[in-house]
Amino acid sequence: MGPRPAASLPRGSSPRRPPLPGVLPLLLLLLPPPPGAGAGTSRPPHLVFVLADDLGWNDVGFHGSNVRTPHLDALAAGGVLLDNYYTQPLCTPSRSQLLTGRYQIHTGLQHQIIWPCQPSCVPLDEKLLPQLLKEAGYTTHMVGKWHLGMYRKECLPTRRGFDTYFGYLLGSEDYYSHERCTLINALNVTRCALDFRDGEEVATGYENMYSTNIFTRRATALITNHPPEKPLFLYLALQSVHEPLQVPEEYLKPYDFIQDKNRHYYAGMVSLMDEAVGNVTAALKSHGLWNNTVFIFSTDNGGQTLAGGNNWPLRGRKWSLWEGGVRGVGFVASPLLKQKGVKNRELIHISDWLPTLVKLAGGSTNGTKPLDGFDMWKTISEGSPSPRTELLHNIDPNFVDASPYWPGCLLLL
Ligand SMILES: *[C@@H]1O[C@H](CO)[C@@H](O)[C@H](O)[C@H]1NC(C)=O
Ligand SMILES: *[C@@H]1O[C@H](CO)[C@@H](O)[C@H](O)[C@H]1NC(C)=O
Ligand SMILES: *[C@@H]1O[C@H](CO)[C@@H](O)[C@H](O)[C@H]1NC(C)=O
Ligand SMILES: *[C@@H]1O[C@H](CO)[C@@H](O)[C@H](O)[C@H]1NC(C)=O
Repeated sequence: MGPRPAASLPRGSSPRRPPLPGVLPLLLLLLPPPPGAGAGTSRPPHLVFVLADDLGWNDVGFHGSNVRTPHLDALAAGGVLLDNYYTQPLCTPSRSQLLTGRYQIHTGLQHQIIWPCQPSCVPLDEKLLPQLLKEAGYTTHMVGKWHLGMYRKECLPTRRGFDTYFGYLLGSEDYYSHERCTLINALNVTRCALDFRDGEEVATGYENMYSTNIFTRRATALITNHPPEKPLFLYLALQSVHEPLQVPEEYLKPYDFIQDKNRHYYAGMVSLMDEAVGNVTAALKSHGLWNNTVFIFSTDNGGQTLAGGNNWPLRGRKWSLWEGGVRGVGFVASPLLKQKGVKNRELIHISDWLPTLVKLAGGSTNGTKPLDGFDMWKTISEGSPSPRTELLHNIDPNFVDASPYWPGCLLLL
């Protein structure tokens, strides 16, 4: 907790003096609104972005799935459901666009994910969303999956705009051991290593604890300890529901009717994630932040049908450029929305969040390279036409959906 900005100190209890006629009304005009004044306050909103991993179109209740997601359904029903929302078909490219507001053809990340031993990260001359929000006066926290490179310290979340970080830097770890295994081709051996960090330090002592529970606990602690008068940016990038298919036994029970083993596990994982989102929003509410929060939920790409995901009625899967790979589950929930309980059919892309959120924060995109994203707040909040008329999925002659052809690849991605 830093010192509180003078402008948000409650002034109501200043020493009593006989008011001077003519001076008091002027003073009152200068007073900030009281904390928790709610919608209508001019204080920048708290921004909470929950990113799910590999969640498919037909994996949420509000799209008609038989996987139960009551918390997500309620939030979506009371907010704006994004029906024509696109992501990239893969993890690293999507995440890079979320944090840069730029297509990955500009950043060298158009081919694939960043692999564990690959000396690559989002180029260091890109200015990222948390940096811009920090400049706008926000406290910035990240919890969960980074996957934007880690071969140098300069690439780490804490060096790229986040005040705090807790999570894992790669992808596809074990949910309980937090180890990431990878085949080292040159040696023809598979090596596993712990990939779990608190800040820049290796975080030990979390073995046998399911990552989503750990991340949810960290996220709710950050919320609980946050002074509501200071704007908060929380980026919660959950491991759920990427394979490996792992979930505590009790979450499988409600889905015993599902014959397919992958789908059975996957459904339990989605339910646990739904509960996590319920816990996070409950913390925002009970701590008095919700009234001035813009809450965004998004997947990073379509579901992996080879690992329990389902994108019906959309064709294709994660990694493909069919709709099932790129059309994303997403919604915005917030008391600050002008329209609520609506399905938004305007074209929105994952690169649009950076300009949208920086604008909401009252910040400036000064210092970024030319952006591909658009400010979508009026489109989302009021339903006005999207400024976006087209989107670029990629330009990359090397891009292939390797998953069905590459033996063992499902264990690695
Ligand atoms: C949030 O806003 C509602 C309605 O505007 C109000 O009843 C409630 O007290 C507010 N809560 C907080 C914590 O400010
Ligand atoms: C790699 O090791 C496995 C056994 O671990 C062996 O079956 C395989 O032939 C080896 N491949 C090469 C290219 O040496
Ligand atoms: C949600 O909070 C409850 C109560 O603290 C806890 O038992 C549960 O494990 C939490 N769920 C997740 C997914 O973290
Ligand atoms: C943008 O940043 C540059 C360099 O930091 C600064 O000189 C300029 O005044 C800024 N412009 C705006 C509009 O903030």
